[in-house]
Amino acid sequence: MQFKHIFPAVLAVAAVQAQNNTMNLTSLIAGNTDLSGLSQLLQQYPNVATSLASASNVTLFAPSNQALQAVSAVLASAGGNTSNLVQALLDYHTVKGVYLASNITAQPAFPRTMLNMTAYSNVTGGQVVECRLVNNTTVEVISGLKTVANVTQANLNFTGGVVHVINSVLQIPGNFSSVAVSANLTALVGATEATNLTSSIDSLQDVTIFAPSNSAFQAIGSAASNLSASMATQILEYHVINGTIAYSSSLGNTTIPTLGGKNVTITVANSTIFVNGARVINPDILISGGVMHVIDSVLNPNNTQARGNSSETSATAQFSGASSATAVPFTSGVATPTTTIGALITTASQVASGYSSVAPAGGSKSAVASGAGASSSSKAGAAAMQTGAVGAAALFGGAALLANF
Ligand SMILES: *[C@@H]1O[C@H](CO)[C@@H](O)[C@H](O)[C@H]1NC(C)=O
Ligand SMILES: *[C@@H]1O[C@H](CO)[C@@H](O)[C@H](O)[C@H]1NC(C)=O
Ligand SMILES: *[C@@H]1O[C@H](CO)[C@@H](O)[C@H](O)[C@H]1NC(C)=O
Ligand SMILES: *[C@@H]1O[C@H](CO)[C@@H](O)[C@H](O)[C@H]1NC(C)=O
Ligand SMILES: *[C@@H]1O[C@H](CO)[C@@H](O)[C@H](O)[C@H]1NC(C)=O
Ligand SMILES: *[C@@H]1O[C@H](CO)[C@@H](O)[C@H](O)[C@H]1NC(C)=O
Ligand SMILES: *[C@@H]1O[C@H](CO)[C@@H](O)[C@H](O)[C@H]1NC(C)=O
Ligand SMILES: *[C@@H]1O[C@H](CO)[C@@H](O)[C@H](O)[C@H]1NC(C)=O
Ligand SMILES: *[C@@H]1O[C@H](CO)[C@@H](O)[C@H](O)[C@H]1NC(C)=O
Ligand SMILES: *[C@@H]1O[C@H](CO)[C@@H](O)[C@H](O)[C@H]1NC(C)=O
Ligand SMILES: *[C@@H]1O[C@H](CO)[C@@H](O)[C@H](O)[C@H]1NC(C)=O
Ligand SMILES: *[C@@H]1O[C@H](CO)[C@@H](O)[C@H](O)[C@H]1NC(C)=O
Repeated sequence: MQFKHIFPAVLAVAAVQAQNNTMNLTSLIAGNTDLSGLSQLLQQYPNVATSLASASNVTLFAPSNQALQAVSAVLASAGGNTSNLVQALLDYHTVKGVYLASNITAQPAFPRTMLNMTAYSNVTGGQVVECRLVNNTTVEVISGLKTVANVTQANLNFTGGVVHVINSVLQIPGNFSSVAVSANLTALVGATEATNLTSSIDSLQDVTIFAPSNSAFQAIGSAASNLSASMATQILEYHVINGTIAYSSSLGNTTIPTLGGKNVTITVANSTIFVNGARVINPDILISGGVMHVIDSVLNPNNTQARGNSSETSATAQFSGASSATAVPFTSGVATPTTTIGALITTASQVASGYSSVAPAGGSKSAVASGAGASSSSKAGAAAMQTGAVGAAALFGGAALLANF
């Protein structure tokens, strides 16, 4: 496929398009110079074009020519039938409901997209994106691996809704284990591998996972090394809420049952979300089955005490008597991520703003360290999920980098 030749090498400056509620989507895309790549992509995939043309009551986040270059490179190198992949990708760029730029506020929203093929998502009603307004000026759309796209042309009306042009392609969230590795949650992944829980957690539908950081596991190293397989399983299952996806915007004070049956208590206090005595330190990492929130300590189903005050928490709070280990437990045999993403691993400023905005009015700001940016090394991961299109990993927010056990 000679796909890479069809995009202009230089990003054209788009002319301001007339607003027109009587123009259909095909005409809108064809008439926008910054969407010529999208227009040509749709010509290559007539079935995708037909389904997009019939969409109504939607918001299309349309990747600019420059943004689409990443896709063209992947499709050019992918063998086989890429039609489902392109369909999934455009479904993920199509949000249900008409969101004008003015509908998007500093409070993060998680609107559903059209993406519901089970090969790519296990979120009932459609995988979500995160939208929010930053600095009162920039509309951000956040997708897999916390990839941030900015809206560069807003509010282009068409008969079935509105188009916003974005400067980066949205990434379809990968499965739990691939995203966890990208987030450097290698102790958690090692523990789910050791208990044979990885594949079942990966394929859960509508799930919320509270994911302890590596430091959290290290802090209870003495207890972790003495766990029976059955106890380790109970502990891991205590971190999984099956059947409910709770984004930070919908977390309030509540108790909710976990996969193992016992409840966890969610407390929102002083701009901070707690689950029992653990603190959420990086919320809203999207995964194919739902959402993952990184927490600062390991939960214990035999110590369900809730705390709502950050000064009381410590990584060992749930395991009395546990002491820290020099090595991070469960990580032997788990590959370290070849690409690290600052927004996933540290609590970068973008995390801080999403995090504090869930706080009740009047709450004080949480102490969230500002983090480093992304860094990466060269090795590409294998596809995070079965896609039918070899080489498609670059389009997915999550690469499976697990070692064989
Ligand atoms: C675009 O459509 C919205 C409703 O979806 C409407 O409120 C707005 O006035 C329209 N803008 C223009 C310029 O027609
Ligand atoms: C709006 O779009 C319709 C259909 O494409 C077209 O006939 C009409 O001339 C357009 N109006 C303006 C003001 O661009
Ligand atoms: C979109 O509008 C154009 C111009 O009015 C028309 O030629 C075309 O058939 C329409 N396409 C669809 C899919 O409705
Ligand atoms: C448009 O979509 C939104 C979000 O899915 C939904 O709440 C609303 O009922 C829909 N409106 C119409 C007219 O279908
Ligand atoms: C967007 O804002 C308008 C005006 O406030 C409102 O009528 C509409 O329901 C909002 N749309 C969504 C999808 O929230
Ligand atoms: C996906 O969404 C489409 C359109 O909303 C719907 O017809 C279809 O049944 C859905 N499929 C699944 C697996 O939910
Ligand atoms: C969705 O769940 C099914 C089993 O329930 C699993 O086979 C599939 O891999 C899952 N899809 C993704 C994208 O994780
Ligand atoms: C928001 O403003 C801060 C401080 O001026 C700046 O560092 C940051 O880059 C801005 N972010 C966006 C997305 O505009
Ligand atoms: C955004 O605008 C509101 C009202 O205009 C103002 O109170 C607030 O301080 C602004 N926030 C930022 C981050 O600029
Ligand atoms: C989004 O916009 C902000 C400010 O306008 C900028 O700092 C940031 O780099 C942009 N992000 C991307 C992915 O272009
Ligand atoms: C995990 O599965 C392997 C192979 O099926 C088995 O040998 C091992 O005992 C299992 N471990 C646990 C903790 O169930
Ligand atoms: C990943 O976790 C390991 C073990 O805790 C740590 O040594 C390493 O610095 C972490 N990597 C990043 C990029 O934070």
